[in-house]
Amino acid sequence: MKVCVVGAGYVGLVTGAGLAALGHDVICVDTDPSKVEGIKNRKAPFFEPGLDSLLEQTVASGKLDASIDLGSSFAGADVSIIAVGTPSNEIGIDLTYVREAATAIGRLLPAQSKFHVVVVKSTVVPTTTDTIVRQELELASGLIASRDFGLAANPEFLREGCAVEDFTNPDRIVIGALDDRSRQILAAMYFKCECPIVHTTPRNAEMVKYAANAVLATLISFSNEIAGLCETVPGLDENIVMSGVHLDRRWWVEAADGTRIHPAILTYLRAGVGFGGSCFPKDIRAICSFAAERGVPLRMLSSVLSVNEERARRIVDLLGKELGDLKGKRVAVFGLAFKPNTDDVRESPGVEIGKQLLIAGASVVTHDPMVSHQAAVRSLGGSVDYESDAQAAATGADAVVIATAWDQYRRLDWVAIAVKLKQAVVLDGRQVVSSEQLPRKFKLLRVGRGEYGGLACPEAPKTL
Ligand code: UDX
Repeated sequence: MKVCVVGAGYVGLVTGAGLAALGHDVICVDTDPSKVEGIKNRKAPFFEPGLDSLLEQTVASGKLDASIDLGSSFAGADVSIIAVGTPSNEIGIDLTYVREAATAIGRLLPAQSKFHVVVVKSTVVPTTTDTIVRQELELASGLIASRDFGLAANPEFLREGCAVEDFTNPDRIVIGALDDRSRQILAAMYFKCECPIVHTTPRNAEMVKYAANAVLATLISFSNEIAGLCETVPGLDENIVMSGVHLDRRWWVEAADGTRIHPAILTYLRAGVGFGGSCFPKDIRAICSFAAERGVPLRMLSSVLSVNEERARRIVDLLGKELGDLKGKRVAVFGLAFKPNTDDVRESPGVEIGKQLLIAGASVVTHDPMVSHQAAVRSLGGSVDYESDAQAAATGADAVVIATAWDQYRRLDWVAIAVKLKQAVVLDGRQVVSSEQLPRKFKLLRVGRGEYGGLACPEAPKTL
């Protein structure tokens, strides 16, 4: 099958390369010539584990190509996939790029000699595919959807930092086809994928994506809200509390041998510094706006956002209670990426914590295994310092705040870090270090723990 992917970003390029690896002939189209050149040279324009080798394999085999020209890339394609950005704007979701892609594809449809399916993979609010996209396509082509061309919504569920793995071993595929021919063609496109395929309408497919992200974000904000309360009560420890919650039989299944299998979802039910990235915040803002327009405000999801937005300031308050006035204090922020195994700092909690520290008058030095100095300055401004080595970042600092759960921070030589610090204080925002790893002189501030009552809590039982 020939597939034309419009948009070679995180979703478009991983999807395109993944489909090429399945044996399809894929061309990724992007308006950015440097991105196109990079792909042709088998170098991904952004970091995703395994993507370079996937490009190496699929470009070398001739299965994957890239182009800035949609017309030539579209000719003869069975499927075109719209995978362009849908940024937030003041009314919720900005569909400009989706509309532009639909119009450009619509203009090319009449020249197609066979039934062609247009797929919307970008995250769009329910009804977008079967109204706005459909209208743009029909207006630009003069054709009728379902009769002359196919249309479907096919949302992605690719986590950053493991997107290639998530495409190669999908947990689900959701196909919201407008017509049966589209459904059959998309089922064929994914024929090698061994996972449940949900066949439904475009609207339901669009809504699955929002509900999936919303429930994950809700668990995170729920945990952080409970943590926020625990942090005000000396002796309370969210970690212990959640360990007790996780044991609820409705959170695990019993294996044949009697052992308990705890779902990965439980990692979302633990205190942290909040969620970031290009999906959760944007998608929740979009679905809240969409619902409000329909007179059904999503009060809980609005709170999920506000709890998350307050979390960075709360973390800085916790540090202030330990260090006193933060003005003039030097704080090392370990972790600017919004999650491990990516250099993406979009809406990152680490960046927000850095901003709040600067507002509090602290001097901030940042470290991240993958985020560059330039990216740190772009996010936090020129007043922030940056070190590529954690010990150098800790030198002379009054405290370290761990804001991203990088494995490197689990394995750090904390004895060496302690020597460098002016005050041996670490606020572990991601629960990655245990008190056993730290020299006795260290003061470990852990999220979700009522510390400043002076009551240090025993480590949570290792039940999971
Ligand atoms: C998310 C969805 O998981 C994915 O299915 C969708 O396609 C895109 O959006 P992603 O944002 O890459 O993927 O990552 P995820 O691992 O879900 O983390 C999102 C944010 O939640 C990160 O900032 C992460 O640090 C945070 N998080 C995650 C927590 O704060 N606590 C957790 O326990 C897990």
